[in-house]
Amino acid sequence: MITVSQLQSPVSTQSSQTVATPICSKNIHSGAIAAEGIEMTFHSGGFGSRVLKGIDLAIPHGSIQILMGPSGSGKTTLLSILSGLLTPTTGRVCLLGQNITQMSRKQLSKFRLDHIGFIFQGFNLFPALSAAQNVEVALHLKNIRGRKARDRAHDLLEQVGLGDRVHSLPRNLSGGQKQRVAIARALAGNPQLIMADEPTAALDSQSGHTAIELLRKLAKEEGVTVLMVTHDPRILDVADRVVHLEDGRLTSK
Ligand SMILES: Nc1ncnc2c1ncn2[C@@H]1O[C@H](COP(=O)(O)OP(=O)(O)O)[C@@H](O)[C@H]1O
Ligand SMILES: [Mg+2]
Repeated sequence: MITVSQLQSPVSTQSSQTVATPICSKNIHSGAIAAEGIEMTFHSGGFGSRVLKGIDLAIPHGSIQILMGPSGSGKTTLLSILSGLLTPTTGRVCLLGQNITQMSRKQLSKFRLDHIGFIFQGFNLFPALSAAQNVEVALHLKNIRGRKARDRAHDLLEQVGLGDRVHSLPRNLSGGQKQRVAIARALAGNPQLIMADEPTAALDSQSGHTAIELLRKLAKEEGVTVLMVTHDPRILDVADRVVHLEDGRLTSK
């Protein structure tokens, strides 16, 4: 719901100052994912659309955090900013104590490769590659090749319940199966951070449960931090916190 004070609140001047700070301040340094003063305005056709209006967020290690909000509220935009795929207009993002907003493109791609598993809303699978090869690509990027990569890809696909579809091309897989390949691929490099955009939306109840259990185990047993956009009530049960994005701002309910 839009409140009068939100409509009238001016652009934060604090956030435009913090963008130049080279290191993460102590108060947001210790968490796994932290953001300060994130604002995002998209410009097109001479108009500016202010989608994020000052987001502050601190997510501890090993927790599962859910981001909810109406369609078009900026969830994908925020997730893209928090994972370094998009640069905010102002504000900064610290991941694992490092200020990614200050990184060069090269540093950022290495950081993403080493630490982040991203599950995209549209799966982003390579259409000419089999399920296993799609997972192997992520391993090749980390210099894991040959037999070792094949075995790990098969193992991951087994874990998401696709052990019998390793050789299938994406076009021969259902939406839910493609989504599970995308999950397996995101987990391939043992990331410390998993960012997921509606990762269970296309999953039937059994595979949805398998995916959720996998993410819960990673968080609780291996200290992986999971941030995901979802409306899935099954995930709400395992979440440590749910934040809502509305009118460009976050509220915790
Ligand atoms: N690259 C872009 N250029 C211009 N506008 C964009 C771009 N990406 C997203 N938007 C706009 O920002 C708003 C939030 O989009 P998005 O983050 O995809 O929302 P959600 O994921 O919550 O549905 C929408 O109004 C969308 O049209
Ligand atoms: Mg979205």
